[in-house]
Amino acid sequence: MDFQPTVSGEYFAAVAESYDRLQPILSPPYSKGLEMMVDLVPFDPNDTFKFVELGCGTAEPTARVLERFPNATGTCMDREPEMLSLARKKLEMHSRRVVVGETDMVNCEIPGCDLAISAKAIHHVNPDDLPALFARIAGALSPGGCFILFDAMSMGPAPGVKVSMQSSRFRQLHFQRAVASGEATRAEIDARMDFKRKMKAAGKDVEYGHASEDLIRTMDQAGFDEVSVVWRMFSDTILLAFTPDAVRSG
Ligand SMILES: C[S@@+](CC[C@H](N)C(=O)[O-])C[C@H]1O[C@@H](n2cnc3c(N)ncnc32)[C@H](O)[C@@H]1O
Repeated sequence: MDFQPTVSGEYFAAVAESYDRLQPILSPPYSKGLEMMVDLVPFDPNDTFKFVELGCGTAEPTARVLERFPNATGTCMDREPEMLSLARKKLEMHSRRVVVGETDMVNCEIPGCDLAISAKAIHHVNPDDLPALFARIAGALSPGGCFILFDAMSMGPAPGVKVSMQSSRFRQLHFQRAVASGEATRAEIDARMDFKRKMKAAGKDVEYGHASEDLIRTMDQAGFDEVSVVWRMFSDTILLAFTPDAVRSG
């Protein structure tokens, strides 16, 4: 069960096998954020709609949307083959309703859809690439379509010393609970965090600290009609955005 990083490629290639088990432990808001994303999908359970997930990784968000909405069809995409092979296994039972694609969201074509989602992936995208990416998402969405963006981002003034200490205390408490319940060992949590630090230092896990204010402004400029923060837990935030409704003629 211990995490043994042996691959010398990019970060997500190396951690793919343990991602689903360790991500909810290493990122305390992750599970709640995914639950919120699916609850925020603006469709009724039996509605028919098309969706796209960008940076799907092992496709946990896509799997949840397909399970909740049995008439939805989707496309999920990621650039990391190791993550995608786990996504394909996970989505096998839904294979008639989903296409899994290996592609870079920064320059890929986004299929037409009524809903776009992205979880914990946009912070890997260079801010210079965001205007075009958001414009392509807005362009792919139908009128009145919805974009649900879940990711870490800053908001307002940077947290002070006490708030930062409370944040790391909260994280440690979360780790202790996971160890006590046998979900992970302390050694593998420490090994994974150490591995992430090394991959970052080697430039193999590039992350950008986007500010929610910049993301909201960029989404507004990209053609979204409404963009709002609807949920936040420490830096993990969900932005909900809609494209303008169709203009009625006559
Ligand atoms: C932290 S994982 C999140 C995976 C999944 N969305 C989830 O919620 O579990 C981030 C994913 O984004 C992918 N990613 C990062 N930049 C990308 C890009 N430019 N194009 C496609 N995928 C990208 C990574 O390969 C990785 O699988």
